[in-house]
Amino acid sequence: MSTLLDLSPIIPVVTIEDPAHAVPVARALLAGGIGIIELTLRTERSFESLNAIATEVPEIRLGAGSVLTPHQADIAIELGARFLVSPGATVRLLDHLLALDVPVLPGVATVSEALTAAERGLTDLKFFPAGPAGGSAYLAAIAAPVPQLRFCPTGGITVDTMGDYLALPNVPCVGGSWLTPASALAAADWQRVTALSAAALAAGRASRTRQAHGGP
Ligand code: 3PG
Repeated sequence: MSTLLDLSPIIPVVTIEDPAHAVPVARALLAGGIGIIELTLRTERSFESLNAIATEVPEIRLGAGSVLTPHQADIAIELGARFLVSPGATVRLLDHLLALDVPVLPGVATVSEALTAAERGLTDLKFFPAGPAGGSAYLAAIAAPVPQLRFCPTGGITVDTMGDYLALPNVPCVGGSWLTPASALAAADWQRVTALSAAALAAGRASRTRQAHGGP
């Protein structure tokens, strides 16, 4: 069954300080071929940015990231988020997310956390923070004992390392913030966002093609 993780080999993790940047960033990602955006709720005005994208760029699949509480999850949905991502999940947050009518990607960093989510029926998870938590070697090691679980790793991934993750059978996509660097947003350099998006997409597609043909 195809899920959120199958939509794009890369989910951009985007942090926006100025809501005026929200719509141009979303359009710049689309121009680079990326049809999905995880907007983090890490800034003071992130809900305004979320609502602006939901209203003005409905063609991009919009999700809210860095969701820490049930309340944040509810507001994000009200403002137009169509999926939710958390860096980790308490059982309370997990149960709240699962009662909502959108795909959710709770963050896990250990097999026990993954099994807690799996006990509740989840099979798609975020692996965070991917680099410090063991990287692609960790996900490769747990593919055998928990083959039913799939991961979107984020945290420390770059265009140069994404292929190591996408080569794994339990990694349909990766996430990362490198497509929308703070410096590009501050300079309103939307062409750079589009170029980084196109490069990431090309690298992701190449990795998938190699994987489909059984290559390294
Ligand atoms: C996340 O929330 O997924 C991470 O902050 C993204 O990590 P990165 O900035 O290292 O790409």
